[in-house]
Amino acid sequence: MLELADGGGGSYRVERYAISPLPKESVVDGSLVKPDAVADALRDTWRHLDTRTRDIVLALPASAVTAKKIILPKETTEADIEIQAITEANQIVSFPIEDVALDFQVLGPSPRNPEENEVLVVVSRKDRIEERVAAAEAAGLRTSVVDVDTYATLRAYDQIAFQLPDDGRKQTVAIVDIGATTTHVNVLHDNQPVYQREHPFGGQILTQEIARRFDLPTEEAEDAKRKGLLPESYEPEVLRPFLDAVSVEIQRALQFFFSSTPYQSVDEILLAGGCAGIPGLDEVVYGKMQASTILANPFSKMAVSNHVKARQLASDAPSLFVACGLALRRFDPE
Ligand SMILES: Nc1ncnc2c1ncn2[C@@H]1O[C@H](COP(=O)(O)OP(=O)(O)OP(=O)(O)O)[C@@H](O)[C@H]1O
Ligand SMILES: [Mg+2]
Repeated sequence: MLELADGGGGSYRVERYAISPLPKESVVDGSLVKPDAVADALRDTWRHLDTRTRDIVLALPASAVTAKKIILPKETTEADIEIQAITEANQIVSFPIEDVALDFQVLGPSPRNPEENEVLVVVSRKDRIEERVAAAEAAGLRTSVVDVDTYATLRAYDQIAFQLPDDGRKQTVAIVDIGATTTHVNVLHDNQPVYQREHPFGGQILTQEIARRFDLPTEEAEDAKRKGLLPESYEPEVLRPFLDAVSVEIQRALQFFFSSTPYQSVDEILLAGGCAGIPGLDEVVYGKMQASTILANPFSKMAVSNHVKARQLASDAPSLFVACGLALRRFDPE
């Protein structure tokens, strides 16, 4: 959980954050299979956060939503856009329309015809949203916005584009977010999203290998991994092979991107997610991909409150990437 505050003049301040691991298998394939465990984790994390606000923004995984762009004449009214969006939703989903949650946003003039607007229609099963809102509510939290992790990633990207050559213009940038079980790949070209995909790969593989190798319960293996408290053989025999596996996975993921789009290379790789915190990962990825590789820190332009240890934040920043994009929703112009 991350709380951002208005820093004045369009800037932000990192007010506070707290990170705690979810119990194993409480969320599987984006579904809350142990909602009580999730609610407990939310409550504990919120307590650690030590804030007064109970209003939250949360995300659905991209795999839980279907998005489609439609083109409508510029003069279409809100009400007519909604009707069109419902018609579209009926074609997209295979379940009854009363089980559908739907939202749409006018993106702006169509590149082909300035008399038309591009409208993004996003649909999801209602129960995917409701299970999350209910878990938050059980933890005493109010959900003010439900977003999609991909959109949050793109919003957080706005905070780091300035670090890239020409502020990311004309560049092909892959954001690779490596979590516990999933690696999310988002690619932008000229600062516009062109590709996104999820791959079943993440840091849990390393945790399991540590548990097996050093005969530790999973929780202890997880803790030792994060704190770097492991025997000398860990680095050459466990960590190194994992880093190589990560770089192969990224190479494969980008191969998918190349084969399904006209793009043939990426200029920049931004590493995000909890696994970006593994020392040496950026170098291994650079060595394999030969593309400039940086750890994604969405807070480098932001002020930091005195509740937050700046050095710890710098190392946790890549794992707060999606959270940052969600917190930024609060500052959207209405
Ligand atoms: N300092 C660290 N060193 C090594 N691994 C770390 C570190 N911090 C977090 N991790 C690992 O990162 C993973 C969690 O990353 P993250 O918080 O991005 O996951 P998530 O978004 O909850 O998971 P997913 O995206 O798979 O649903 C875990 O496997 C954890 O062990
Ligand atoms: Mg994640």
